[in-house]
Amino acid sequence: MDGHTKTRPLPLTPGPTSRPTPEPDYESAVSWQSALAFFLAATLGAALALWLLPHILPIFFSDIAAQKAYWHLARASGVIAYLLLWLSAALGLLITNRMARVWPGGPTAFDLHQFTSLLSLAFTGFHALILLGDDYISYSLAQILIPFAAAGYRPIATGLGQVAFYLAIMVTFSFYVKKRIGRRAWRIIHYASFLLFILIILHGLTAGTDASSLRYLYLVSFGSILFLTLYRILITHATKTTSLERRDS
Ligand code: HEM
Repeated sequence: MDGHTKTRPLPLTPGPTSRPTPEPDYESAVSWQSALAFFLAATLGAALALWLLPHILPIFFSDIAAQKAYWHLARASGVIAYLLLWLSAALGLLITNRMARVWPGGPTAFDLHQFTSLLSLAFTGFHALILLGDDYISYSLAQILIPFAAAGYRPIATGLGQVAFYLAIMVTFSFYVKKRIGRRAWRIIHYASFLLFILIILHGLTAGTDASSLRYLYLVSFGSILFLTLYRILITHATKTTSLERRDS
């Protein structure tokens, strides 16, 4: 990770010959190798936790409390993954609707957008894998990996999270093949983020133990993403109209 970001200079207001909706184009601060290594390290961390915890927990806690530790870890990592995803989605929208130019600046917002989406993936990997230690849910690895196959505990609710997880991997890593697949295809893939966000809220509400205490968090986060999305649509429309008016005058 070199932390450097290059930007292509963009006109703040479109000139008579510019395209209607020029979008900021930033270069990745994280190479695909680093992103993959990061993801594998998180998976390894979860595997290590699953191996070590049965030896460590009984030293400090009763059997029942030790067993519940996996459940607490799964819930905590799920909520952290969600918060990071929310932040990442909000930053992505701040970049495209140009609000990021006011604060924290386009390149910084882009780096944060990328880091938060990778971190969210890492926490989700941990969230899913740590469930292997939970005797109450008793999922197998295949049931964790295959959407809607987790028959033992809320398969549909869990399935929504699983589909969202695969969508998140696709959206995050599509950035690394952007040049190969083209900007248009990449943007279509990126639109899956909206679906992904809705699926995760539904997953949290239907699978989560803390759904009722977290409902305001889901409401506020959904509201903020909706607001930023509507603002982005409006600003795109306004830029197009200005551009057409200038061309016709
Ligand atoms: C392979 C993918 C996934 C699996 C197998 C899975 C499984 C689960 C399960 C079983 C629960 C219920 C835990 C409980 O409260 O007892 C849960 C809750 C939750 N999950 Fe997931 N999940 C997955 C993906 C995701 C993703 C991608 C996110 C967010 C980025 C996420 C965020 C959450 C949240 C916020 C909760 C609610 C926690 C609570 O209410 O305490 N999950 N998940």
